[in-house]
Amino acid sequence: MSSKNDNKITDSENTQEISPKITDTKFLDQTLRPNSWDEYIGQKNIKENLKILLTAAKQRQHPPEHLLFYGPPGLGKTTLAHLIAHETRAQLKDTSGPAIEKVGDLASILTNLSPGDILFIDEIHRLNKAIEEVLYPAMESGVLDIIIGKGPSARTIQLELPAFTLIAATTRIAMLSAPLRSRFSGGVFKLDFYTEEEIGKIIERSSKILNVEIDGEAKEEIAKRSRSTPRTANYLLKRSRDLAQIREQKLTNDIVKESLEMLGIDNMGLNAVDRAMLNVIEDKFNGGPVGLNTLAASLSEEQSTIEDVYEPYLLQLGFIERTSRGRVVTDRARKHLSKK
Ligand code: ADE
Repeated sequence: MSSKNDNKITDSENTQEISPKITDTKFLDQTLRPNSWDEYIGQKNIKENLKILLTAAKQRQHPPEHLLFYGPPGLGKTTLAHLIAHETRAQLKDTSGPAIEKVGDLASILTNLSPGDILFIDEIHRLNKAIEEVLYPAMESGVLDIIIGKGPSARTIQLELPAFTLIAATTRIAMLSAPLRSRFSGGVFKLDFYTEEEIGKIIERSSKILNVEIDGEAKEEIAKRSRSTPRTANYLLKRSRDLAQIREQKLTNDIVKESLEMLGIDNMGLNAVDRAMLNVIEDKFNGGPVGLNTLAASLSEEQSTIEDVYEPYLLQLGFIERTSRGRVVTDRARKHLSKK
């Protein structure tokens, strides 16, 4: 183990130094984030709509209207919010539904905004109802209603807020109340899975930023296994780069295959949990249908994790179907599993 005073990270088994010096302190994922529309790949329709909305707002010298992005994790909802802030030269204040615990937390965030700021609330579906109610007048009329006192003597005072834009993101659009959804006057945008070609371009861009030489085959192999998701593509690129680096080799197709095998990711990008989910439905429940709660208990996973993280890609691949009686495995999935 390392002593208290030195900053070195050591491997406890052989006490070999593995990180004598940290010279690059910028978080990798931030480095990979596109900062302009030109750098942003995919989601063509959203991009076109947003460009018009932002340009028109700028011409009117008014903050853009409130925006909501939804879709599976890793498709770039947060990335878009940061890109919008960058392109409009606005300051972005970043928070999330579960981080806002009390009405007072939201009041403090809102009153500390400066004119033109963007407030980004991630996982907005996890905001509690009492707090949501405070958000309505803030979004609609730029005011904060504060109740002072209790019982019959309680009074409401209204605080005027600086003009701001709320950008919110959620993986669970169905959990948002209709009143909240309707207040995103700039629009509600669904992010789609990326094509393999788009993912390939993202890998090319990221490898340039990371300064890794990657050949065409290796790029295609990563793209194929990236679950049509930029975050996964960048993750697989970084892990394959690690292996190439310690082997002092180039990032070839063989390195990618070896690295992904070690991570338990198969040729369609499925990981151990995806495969366990398909196998449980097939073997334990005769191919389904099986209810979400039973499935979650069998896999020792949260229902929300299954719905948010695993299911969207399996649905996209046509490996499972959702019926009124539960989840069903398809022949396409059986074929894939039997090849393993
Ligand atoms: N990195 C993550 N998402 C991206 C995107 N859509 N375009 C370019 N780089 C990305």
